[in-house]
Amino acid sequence: MLPQHVTLVEVGPRDGLQNEAQTVSTADKVELVHRLQQAGLQQIEVTSFVSPKWVPQMGDNAQVMAGIQRQASVRYSVLTPNMKGFEGALAAKADEVVIFAAASEAFSQRNINCSIAESIERFRPVVQAAHAHGLKVRSAVSCALGCPYQGEVSLDQVDEVVQRLLDIGADHIGIADTIGVGTAGRVQTVMELALKRVPIAALSGHFHDTYGQALTNIHACLQLGIHTFDSSIAGLGGCPYAKGATGNVATEDVVYLLHGLGIHTGLDLDLLVDAGAFISNVLGRKPVSRVSNALLAKRSAPTQAAQTAA
Ligand code: HMG
Ligand code: MG
Repeated sequence: MLPQHVTLVEVGPRDGLQNEAQTVSTADKVELVHRLQQAGLQQIEVTSFVSPKWVPQMGDNAQVMAGIQRQASVRYSVLTPNMKGFEGALAAKADEVVIFAAASEAFSQRNINCSIAESIERFRPVVQAAHAHGLKVRSAVSCALGCPYQGEVSLDQVDEVVQRLLDIGADHIGIADTIGVGTAGRVQTVMELALKRVPIAALSGHFHDTYGQALTNIHACLQLGIHTFDSSIAGLGGCPYAKGATGNVATEDVVYLLHGLGIHTGLDLDLLVDAGAFISNVLGRKPVSRVSNALLAKRSAPTQAAQTAA
């Protein structure tokens, strides 16, 4: 039985833009968030409160948060690697913070300059402070399907990080294929493992599409009843510390799949295509979404009637 409703967490403004070399203006980031909420997205990861020396593109985090005209129903989340990031998130009135630990030691060192164990100790006060202020905490387990430095990642390594994140009080666990190498069978195995510890409503998938497997991997998760996924408008994304990894699965593509399966999302595909076209235009390229490009081509094609009249 597939789920009847799926929630998409839009990570385009954060995961999508963090990897862009060209500076995207604050106004364009704010416009993107406005278009995403207009399309019906109820959870938007807006920016990161990480070091601007490490990820310069996210340096305008506070300005972006301040520029958004908020909708009451939308949850605006931000990435926080430590207490300094949390203080920024709190001042910016984020609704939710996202902590991110890795299942691979090598990736943890490259991404956040500390061991997995040290990262957990940095996240512990973040979770406590977030809860004390009534904020939810999502977490990501990076490299759960493979690591750009270590290669294979064992089930035990994933399981241990999931347990550690639960121990410090994370409300939600996202299993992340940071470099998009996972295939459906392995994804199901990892998710089945996580489901032993995490209630299904608190588990999600975050799939980069480097090897073109992301949609299939989402379908594999749907078959297990998992009903929350991260996705990124126009297929933007990547991690500056995971070289060669391409974008997240495109929101437009996931919505097309879900609607085709008769699964409710509450999202307007046409408005998503508009949002994807907007940010792709800002970046000077076509959306990395097959669905978006197909629908844009259909829109610009002359209609049968117009052709006949000519
Ligand atoms: P560090 O250099 O070890 O930090 O970096 P530090 O504590 O030694 O501080 C060094 C300097 O950074 C100090 O400033 C701090 O104040 C400042 P200075 O005295 O030199 O002027 N600093 C900060 N500034 C702003 N905000 C902060 C902050 N913290 C310290 N929060 C640190 C450690 C974690 C800060 C750094 O490694 C970092 O920012 N890394 C971020 C990496 C990142 O954003 N990666 C991409 C996101 S993760 C991802 O994409 C994966 C995900 O999508 C899931 C998946 O696909 O796997 C989530
Ligand atoms: Mg990611």
